[in-house]
Amino acid sequence: MLKQLEELHLEALAKLNRVSELKELESWRIRYLGKKSKLTQILRSLASLPLEERKKVGAQANEVKKALESSFTEKERHLEETTLISFLERQGVDVTLPGRPISIGRLHPTTRILEEICDIFIRMGFQVFEGPDVEWDYYNFEALNIPQWHPARDMFATLWIDADMGKGARLLRTHTSPMQIRLMERKRPPIRAIMPGRVYRYEATDATHESMLYQVEGLAINKNITLADLKGTLFEFCHCFFGQERRIRFRCDYFPFVEPGVEVAIECSACHGAGCRLCSYSGWLEILGAGMVHPDVLKRGNIDPEVYTGFAFGMGVERIAMLRYSIDDIRLFYSNDSRFLEQF
Ligand code: DAH
Repeated sequence: MLKQLEELHLEALAKLNRVSELKELESWRIRYLGKKSKLTQILRSLASLPLEERKKVGAQANEVKKALESSFTEKERHLEETTLISFLERQGVDVTLPGRPISIGRLHPTTRILEEICDIFIRMGFQVFEGPDVEWDYYNFEALNIPQWHPARDMFATLWIDADMGKGARLLRTHTSPMQIRLMERKRPPIRAIMPGRVYRYEATDATHESMLYQVEGLAINKNITLADLKGTLFEFCHCFFGQERRIRFRCDYFPFVEPGVEVAIECSACHGAGCRLCSYSGWLEILGAGMVHPDVLKRGNIDPEVYTGFAFGMGVERIAMLRYSIDDIRLFYSNDSRFLEQF
């Protein structure tokens, strides 16, 4: 019986080799692995054999069965593949042609720079928060020391949603600074956060002005935070983003919601400080505004200015992207010209 099994195995394999179509393969399966096949008969007859023989033949028969099954599966896969290829060839598809390259999407330059900026601050331990684009006059102006009559309102050409509603009017936020108040209302110190988002200006667009852009706001509040912490944080950011060699200028500026207020500029990348058209012949490019949070602003966020101090900063993302990539027209960012976008 062992010999019979051996012969059966060899015969089946030889026949399988000659099979060239899926239909033939099915007849082969019925013949060698089907219910009425010799192999099945042998397996059925095992019960009538003496114990010793039953063990040997049984083991051998099961092995042959397994081997034939796996040869069958392999052959099936092979035939399916070749059948598909010949089908495609009959349809006029040349399967040897190299595939067309698939063009993969890419991140918008603003998104790339925004992520890079956030990553630097996240590494310094800042948390990320987001807030609404449609904002109340209160958060955008009042709470930031810019009441109705304040001339600083002129700094922001505002897109109003409600006209003539005073403090209760809605607008499209003109900067991300309102998030300072929203965060203070929600969180107790210590606070160390950045708030990225879109801001809007009612502005005629030109090479340096857009009506929608991105800003990243920063806020840190704790006991004993000083101007030195602000300077250290911003210098660290500039060095990480623009490189260790780039010179940084840190000097006074005015914003109603900070005291003192400062402005940070970096050495012009085009002329290295000598003065050129890009930097309006000053040698410097301003990148952000910042300062120590005004005590009245802390109070509006329910934080006691006698106990806590804090710093804040705000930067324009497109402006920083323009400096990084030497882009001279801000309108390129949102004109959706693929010749521009594909360069990043
Ligand atoms: N919000 C200001 C703007 O859009 C930028 C700014 C200045 C933000 C000083 C600050 C700050 O947090 O402290 O022009």
